[in-house]
Amino acid sequence: RQQRSELENMADLPSELEKELDRLDEEFWISGDKLKQIVKRFREELDEGLAKHHQNIAMHQTWVHHLPSGNERGTFLTLDLGGTNLRVCEITLHGHEKKGKEKTELDQKQYRLPEELKKGDADGLWNFIAEELEDFVKNKGLDKQYTKEKPMPLGFTFSYPATQARIDHAVLKTWTKGFDISGVEDHDVAQQLREKIEERNLPIELICVINDTVGAMIASAYNDPKTIIGAIFGTGCNAAYMANLSSIGKMKEPDRRTASAQSDKMAINCEYGAFDNAHRVLPWTQYDKQIDAESPRPGEQAFEKLSAGLYLGEIYRLIVLELADQGLVFKDQDISKLRKSYSIDTGFLSQVEDDDSSFFTKSRSLFRDLLNLSPSDVEIELSRRIAELIAFKRRWAKALGEILGWSDEEKREGEGPIKITSAEDGSGIGCAIIAAMELDRLGKA
Ligand code: GLC
Repeated sequence: RQQRSELENMADLPSELEKELDRLDEEFWISGDKLKQIVKRFREELDEGLAKHHQNIAMHQTWVHHLPSGNERGTFLTLDLGGTNLRVCEITLHGHEKKGKEKTELDQKQYRLPEELKKGDADGLWNFIAEELEDFVKNKGLDKQYTKEKPMPLGFTFSYPATQARIDHAVLKTWTKGFDISGVEDHDVAQQLREKIEERNLPIELICVINDTVGAMIASAYNDPKTIIGAIFGTGCNAAYMANLSSIGKMKEPDRRTASAQSDKMAINCEYGAFDNAHRVLPWTQYDKQIDAESPRPGEQAFEKLSAGLYLGEIYRLIVLELADQGLVFKDQDISKLRKSYSIDTGFLSQVEDDDSSFFTKSRSLFRDLLNLSPSDVEIELSRRIAELIAFKRRWAKALGEILGWSDEEKREGEGPIKITSAEDGSGIGCAIIAAMELDRLGKA
């Protein structure tokens, strides 16, 4: 069990905690064979999503037909509704014109989404968004530079599963990432946003609605035309890629005619967070089951709940709480903050795992500030090992190598034929590039 030995390099733990770690290790361990079985089923579900509607993995059409030339230009507003924040950006694309200078300029304001908003209603959501948009536009004096006749182009990154009949239209299928806002599912979010912009009389025109994965792919391709996939490992998990139209068996004839007038390709938003919603292959721990049962949409986003950022901290919290309830850790301390759902985020896990400060002072202050707890050396060591166990951080390249059949050397280096780069500000910049391509197509550039 090579996985276990990698973890054992710090302070000794008492035998009852070692036993608990062994039990957890058993529960979280995935063999190479199991990984391959999961990958096989994953590929089948991707194919099923392309062939038919209403499958686990939805494979949504996006109406983005081209990777960028790298020469797209202009100034755009973008709105990015993620799982945690709302970002409003003004983005200028310079294309190739500015040799040796940044190809993009970005000015942004970020607003944390209030918790009550995520469980509220459509009106609350769109009023909040329109208000921040208005605030941003007025602060920058953009409302004076643009008019209703010549409005400022806006791109909207809406990172939830949506069906699109056009690029400026998106019907939300189901909320993910813990959102539960009434009155938006089965509605066109582009229309709902437009109405609020109208109400406020802002000189802004919504050009496109995109998924963050599509944005990441396009932003990355703007710099590196060899890009083939955009993937997000964030609050949620998902990816997009450029598909051949001929591979999208489920596409309706009129759509196929419209699409093929543009190109023989279209970006597909996979929505693979919903992989294995039918529970055929993924290994569920008791903690995963509890998270699913207590979520606003039980049974949905199976793969995402087992692996994405929103949930890793919660898995960790449930484990530590269980040990505390058994009297094995944080005895005689007030664990009321630890009892609060979602009180720990993924950032906490990676900070504990990577803590190289002497006497682990960083981890100690994290525990104190966030959870009002003072961990002993043993508790620090245990926390670090639980974090490693859940997040797989040091082993993911190895697992990828196993799945893709990399050579031993490639596995050692953690890099095979696939090059992974990070698309900084991908969902905003990608959205601006897509808006630029769309204006170009409409002859409005
Ligand atoms: C969730 C959303 C998806 C998004 C992903 C990453 O899976 O459903 O649309 O791309 O999170 O943000």
